[in-house]
Amino acid sequence: MEGSITKHFLYSFVFLLAITSYINSSSADTRFLYRSSPKTANTEFIKTSCSSTKYPKLCYTSLVGHASLIRTSPKLLAHTALNVTLATTKSTSAVMLKMSKDSGMNPREVDAMQDCLEELSDSVDELRRSIGEMGQIKASNFEVMMSDIETWVSAALTDESTCSDGFKRNTVNGKIVRSRIVKIAHMTSNALALINSYASVHS
Ligand SMILES: *[C@@H]1O[C@H](CO)[C@@H](O)[C@H](O)[C@H]1NC(C)=O
Repeated sequence: MEGSITKHFLYSFVFLLAITSYINSSSADTRFLYRSSPKTANTEFIKTSCSSTKYPKLCYTSLVGHASLIRTSPKLLAHTALNVTLATTKSTSAVMLKMSKDSGMNPREVDAMQDCLEELSDSVDELRRSIGEMGQIKASNFEVMMSDIETWVSAALTDESTCSDGFKRNTVNGKIVRSRIVKIAHMTSNALALINSYASVHS
């Protein structure tokens, strides 16, 4: 009898211990959840904003790495989209320059590539100027700056389309070049959409 009471007591003790540690661990989980929620809000903001662009998946994957910088700011989102587009345009230009020097392109393709590199260089200029103005926006110059930026980013988009139009769809090199340029054009189109939505939120 005495032994069974001791055992009973021991079981209750172990049970209590288990409950206590369960409660502790779940409150630790809750704390973790609270701590991670701003981060979730940042990525949700990017996802929601990207859903109104033409290429939402590309928009999200190209921007989510900068979520902690963008937070939930439409302005920083548009600015970062321009930065990312510029960086991709520059790296694509470098790859294309290398492709044009390597053998394996016919003279017609080398010509198209040279034209294309010029268009991309214009596109880089236009994106750079837009980024410069993005950093100088104030309440007093908002409309002028936004209108410049929208004009330049649209021009960049036109240059990119002209570039990819110079390549045939049915050749190996044409396909490679087109797919790279199309990616830049899609990023530019997305950046323009994010700029437009920033402009509309602001005004
Ligand atoms: C965009 O790039 C510029 C120049 O590299 C940099 O100074 C700026 O902090 C970047 N802005 C954002 C929002 O990424």
